[in-house]
Amino acid sequence: MILLGIETSCDETGVAVIRDGKVLTDLVSSQIDFHSIYGGVVPEFASRIQLEVIGSLTQQACTDAGIQLTDLDGIAVTVGPGLIGSVLVGVNFAKGLAYALDKPLIGVAHVRAHLFSPFIEFDQLSFPYIGLIVSGGHTELYTVNSFTDVVLNGKTIDDAAGEAYDKIAGALDLGYPGGPFIDRIAKEARVDKEAYAVKSRKPPDAVKFPMAMMKRGNYNFSFSGLKTAVTRHIKERGPHMTQRTISSIAIGFQDAVTGVLVRKTIALARYKHMKRIAVSGGVAANAQLREMFMTYRDEFEIYIPSVRLCTDNGSMVSFLGYQLLKLGIKSDIDIEAYANNTHIPQRARTPAA
Ligand code: KG4
Ligand code: ZN
Repeated sequence: MILLGIETSCDETGVAVIRDGKVLTDLVSSQIDFHSIYGGVVPEFASRIQLEVIGSLTQQACTDAGIQLTDLDGIAVTVGPGLIGSVLVGVNFAKGLAYALDKPLIGVAHVRAHLFSPFIEFDQLSFPYIGLIVSGGHTELYTVNSFTDVVLNGKTIDDAAGEAYDKIAGALDLGYPGGPFIDRIAKEARVDKEAYAVKSRKPPDAVKFPMAMMKRGNYNFSFSGLKTAVTRHIKERGPHMTQRTISSIAIGFQDAVTGVLVRKTIALARYKHMKRIAVSGGVAANAQLREMFMTYRDEFEIYIPSVRLCTDNGSMVSFLGYQLLKLGIKSDIDIEAYANNTHIPQRARTPAA
């Protein structure tokens, strides 16, 4: 079975072709260089660029995979949540293709696509598992029982982890998107630490910031208090901070975010007596978060896909589309694109909408 997967929920256009669950091509066209000029995604531009790119990227994906459009057995597409203009570009393009080719259309929820994406790289992964999704728009903890049965156990009550990264990096004037910049600073500081140790000098200390909602049995997240604490700290420091001060703040912020993500995920896995944990979404690209999870390898099987598969991509959409189509699940041609998460019930048996 050959499927096309289309992902256009934000500022990346992802198109992938998979055959029987194995990725043949995975192309991503990123708009980051464009939006970074503005310090964040400009939705109106995002959808226009999606529109410019999607046709040629799809052609290229088919060429790279050595197939014709007519070889496709179905078209999977992210139907939400995301920036509505961007989502609509992918959904309408996929509808057009499905209609013209007379092939099934499979609408997929973006978070679900992230949630199952570790299967693409890890043959050993099996149900059930605890799934943590950490991205620019989502911070959610799930018990994942099957491709059509997931239970939401906790989520952020305000900002998503990636959103907090982007805002703090903005406040520190590091650039957009913020995650990779803060990740790099923390990595450098760790290397520095070893260099400082050799010279017996003091490495930059991480500023201690509070972790929120740490009560036992609470699997929700909150990052707005942390964001306020960090921005207040930055203001108090004044406009001319040294590189060392910036590093201390960035490391302290990252310690607080990764600390809470890991602790809650581990606590839930222990509470549910789960052996497997899978982590995905853009923030799962973070080196410190990955390392921290790996320290629990003796107790759990930890599945974190490669960085490219953690950030938005078409493979995860085509993969879930393939799994659903195998189960006989497809969408009506008039399926609607949506912007926010409220469409998805807490325990949903129809993964698309
Ligand atoms: O999954 P994704 O590509 O798009 C959404 O669905 O939101 O995630 C993007 C988010 C951004 O907030 C970005 O700052 C964050 O992922 N991110 C990272 C890293 N790489 C990307 N956060 C921390 N460390 C990273 N290395
Ligand atoms: Zn995403």
